[in-house]
Amino acid sequence: MYNLLKGKKGIIFGALDEKSIAWKVAERAHEEGAKFVLTNAPVALRLGSISELAKKTGSQIIPADATSIMDLEHLVDEAMKILGGKVDFVLHSIGMSVNVRRGNHYTHQDYNFTKTGWDVSALSFHRVMSVLYQRNAMKEWGSIVALTYMAAQRVFPDYNDMADNKAYLESVARSFGYFYGRDHKVRVNTISQSPTATTAGSGVKGFDGFIAYAEKMSPLGNATALECADYTITLFSDLTKKVTLQNLFHDGGFSNMGISTAIMDDFMKDFKEDEEPKKETKK
Ligand SMILES: NC(=O)c1ccc[n+]([C@@H]2O[C@H](COP(=O)([O-])OP(=O)(O)OC[C@H]3O[C@@H](n4cnc5c(N)ncnc54)[C@H](O)[C@@H]3O)[C@@H](O)[C@H]2O)c1
Repeated sequence: MYNLLKGKKGIIFGALDEKSIAWKVAERAHEEGAKFVLTNAPVALRLGSISELAKKTGSQIIPADATSIMDLEHLVDEAMKILGGKVDFVLHSIGMSVNVRRGNHYTHQDYNFTKTGWDVSALSFHRVMSVLYQRNAMKEWGSIVALTYMAAQRVFPDYNDMADNKAYLESVARSFGYFYGRDHKVRVNTISQSPTATTAGSGVKGFDGFIAYAEKMSPLGNATALECADYTITLFSDLTKKVTLQNLFHDGGFSNMGISTAIMDDFMKDFKEDEEPKKETKK
């Protein structure tokens, strides 16, 4: 290990179980010498295994629903008390779509579900930063990171309304990041991660196909949750002080690919030139 976060303090949202990306970030941050508080929605604290992580990393857990300003204010006040002052880093690792959970098609959403998913997955990022900003809770040259997915830029039909939520989230990173950088020298970035087998990820229809396709398309293969944690640690460290307002792809090269030979070979297996044209199927 490199002691990259020695003496740094932070808040980590979104560790549910050991598959969670936030779980891996917490383990890596601990290894790199950071102290932090863990937080998640009260219901997730009951369902998940976060207390195990807290024990392992010597951290305290403060419940907070990321849709509640009151919860977030309490969280930030308590975190500063526990950690003895302002924080250096914050991870937003929160996502949930009720439309995805209920199997609603993108073209036929329940807009109350859409609002809830947006509130939890996207607006929560603004809310978290707003509370940190109002309370002047971030140290100068601190770093805030949220996790996102490439469906914000490209079409992935089954990603559903989460695609729109991620586009909003990435925009908030830029817009809030401007003020945070200008006023407090705090950087704000999003990491656009490969599909990863976690509770949130596996909720997406056809997720195994997503993972297998991305694996074959990416020259370096999919990035794992642990690799995402490693990348996040570099963004929390002092080695990336001037990186801000960015959406950073961490995906083994997937985002710049058109076609790979592996995918082409698979496609050609099913394709015979002399065959009668097949009836058009839905793309
Ligand atoms: N898994 C993937 O394929 C993938 C790919 C790219 C980006 N991401 C993003 O990574 C982040 C973390 O997801 P993950 O894959 O580790 O899954 P995960 O299910 O382990 O984490 C999602 C977390 O969001 C929390 N959460 C939900 N509602 C909340 C609320 N109201 N308040 C506070 N917390 C709440 C959950 O309790 C959970 O801990 C999400 O933003 C997700 O969209 C995931």
